[in-house]
Amino acid sequence: MSMIKKIGVLTSGGDAPGMNAAIRAVVRAALRHNLEVVGIRKGYKGLIDGEFVPLASRNVSNIIQRGGTILGTARSPEFRTPEGRQKAYGNLVGASINAVIVIGGDGTFNGAGLFSSEFDIPFVGIPGTIDNDLYGTDYTIGYDTALNTVVEAVDRIRDTASAHDRMFFIEVMGRGAGFIALHSGIATGAEAILIPEVDGQEDSLHDYLKSQGNKSSNIILVAEGNSVGGAEQIAKQIQEKYPEYDVRANVLGHMQRGGSPSAFDRFLASRLGVAAVDALMDNQRSIMVGFVNHDIVHVPFNKTINASKNLNKILLDVADILAH
Ligand code: F6P
Repeated sequence: MSMIKKIGVLTSGGDAPGMNAAIRAVVRAALRHNLEVVGIRKGYKGLIDGEFVPLASRNVSNIIQRGGTILGTARSPEFRTPEGRQKAYGNLVGASINAVIVIGGDGTFNGAGLFSSEFDIPFVGIPGTIDNDLYGTDYTIGYDTALNTVVEAVDRIRDTASAHDRMFFIEVMGRGAGFIALHSGIATGAEAILIPEVDGQEDSLHDYLKSQGNKSSNIILVAEGNSVGGAEQIAKQIQEKYPEYDVRANVLGHMQRGGSPSAFDRFLASRLGVAAVDALMDNQRSIMVGFVNHDIVHVPFNKTINASKNLNKILLDVADILAH
């Protein structure tokens, strides 16, 4: 018999489309187990400030299709301090909350791991970030939607690039990870892709620029955090070195984080939300529920935080073969 009667749920770090679908799934799965659910507003900040709202089934109606997060989110430096976590613990005990489900990325799980090593309240995590950079899950909630958003934006830029015979450097998100750039690059037929996981891409970019001459447009996808630089900076350098090209830069920015979640992200969030509640009821602690080979897995927080997820670099060859 589980001793859990009341759970909290929060979203933390960068928002991702599908987080609302995950909140909905957590609430309704918890109600099936006769648990009470409390929404914690603004991530760990709300946990420290005691910003709690009761969540019933109808409070999560009509949100499966909405981007952002109804609970709000934040990055909380205070939760990194022992005093901040102590305050959070006091608030959880005060509200009789016996367990917490956190939806977010590696920073979120880092906080959850620390907290669960210090206090007796179990935490379970659901991977939610557009970056898809979490070890232990094939996909994170929000990645598929962001990918489709980028593909739509790049297609539009391709139209104008072809009309003007231009070269565009398009910067996409991903912090230290190239998943969005690599996969959207293949999906849009990008001529080159720069990602943080590969060094020395400057040389291959120059090789490409010297060798190609008959394309009406060139799209170079630039992942945030790659070793060559940001899109604006690279575009400036390339324009100076190759005056024969007409170069432009475009930083897609936060539009990649918004919008209605794709069918896949709604499905993933729904499955992971139910799985997270099941895991708690099954006495699992300090784990993330992941999705590997279309099945649910449990991965300890310390593994998701410390191990890095491999990106299939062979896909760069695929992109290169198809770009010529
Ligand atoms: O982790 C998601 C992400 O969108 C990264 O891709 C990006 O680097 C970062 O968040 C930007 O975060 P913010 O503008 O919210 O600080």
